[in-house]
Amino acid sequence: METIILDDERSIARLAAGAFVDLLARKPDAVLGLATGSSPLGVYDELAARHEDGDISFARARAFTLDEYVGLPADHPETYRNVINRDFTSRVDIDPDAVRGPDGLAEVIPASCAEYEAAIAAAGGVDLQVLGIGAVGHIGFNEPGSSFASRTRIKTLTHQTRVDNARFFDGDVDAVPSHCLTQGLGTIMDARHVVLIATGRHKAEAVHHLVEGPVSAMWPGTILQHHPHATVLLDSAAASRLQLADYFREAYRGKPSWQGL
Ligand code: F6R
Repeated sequence: METIILDDERSIARLAAGAFVDLLARKPDAVLGLATGSSPLGVYDELAARHEDGDISFARARAFTLDEYVGLPADHPETYRNVINRDFTSRVDIDPDAVRGPDGLAEVIPASCAEYEAAIAAAGGVDLQVLGIGAVGHIGFNEPGSSFASRTRIKTLTHQTRVDNARFFDGDVDAVPSHCLTQGLGTIMDARHVVLIATGRHKAEAVHHLVEGPVSAMWPGTILQHHPHATVLLDSAAASRLQLADYFREAYRGKPSWQGL
């Protein structure tokens, strides 16, 4: 796991966007893994700007989202399909049919989740997965206690996650769905490169466990310590509880410029 601490969110967004640009330059039909929420917004802004400048095309790319609320009507502005469309995919030239997410309105949820896993596998697996991390340590919506071997399935959201996401539902916790479909930890671990972004002091405890804690289902993101190619991008506030912060800063300062993420 490479942990990089940067001064501001713009630098984080630029660095993460660079990983997408490099990937699509060498593999135009790459498979992208997309997260919703606040953490990747700067990356999506940066990618939209670089697309506008003609630096990057998503015309042949495919994308899979991490998760979806269960039971929200298709036209609800907070379904993750609508969120990812608004925040990112409608702003670049990716084919809308090449963007898939778990089906939160599926009649038979286990079959639908198995189909989603099969679609990711048929596409050749995810090349680059962008992730945020919840204050409770989840990645995707793999809440504490999730199996490290889990695949796409239904999960009950913790009360804390619903409180955290109430800001997207006019502050009304009860309006946040109680269940979601999420790629499992096993699914996420299959991505060839994972880039996790965390900013702000409210993420510091989760980041402390993610980077320096023992690997534990109580802090599901810690499974990424076993990923062969995981990059963690932090601002100083999110990194504020890391014992090794000075070492990570020094290592990044000394990193050769030819070495990408
Ligand atoms: C979203 C997702 C979640 C978020 C996490 C952090 O698709 O899978 O794991 O990444 O809850 O959310 P933000 O970025 O809004 O703090």
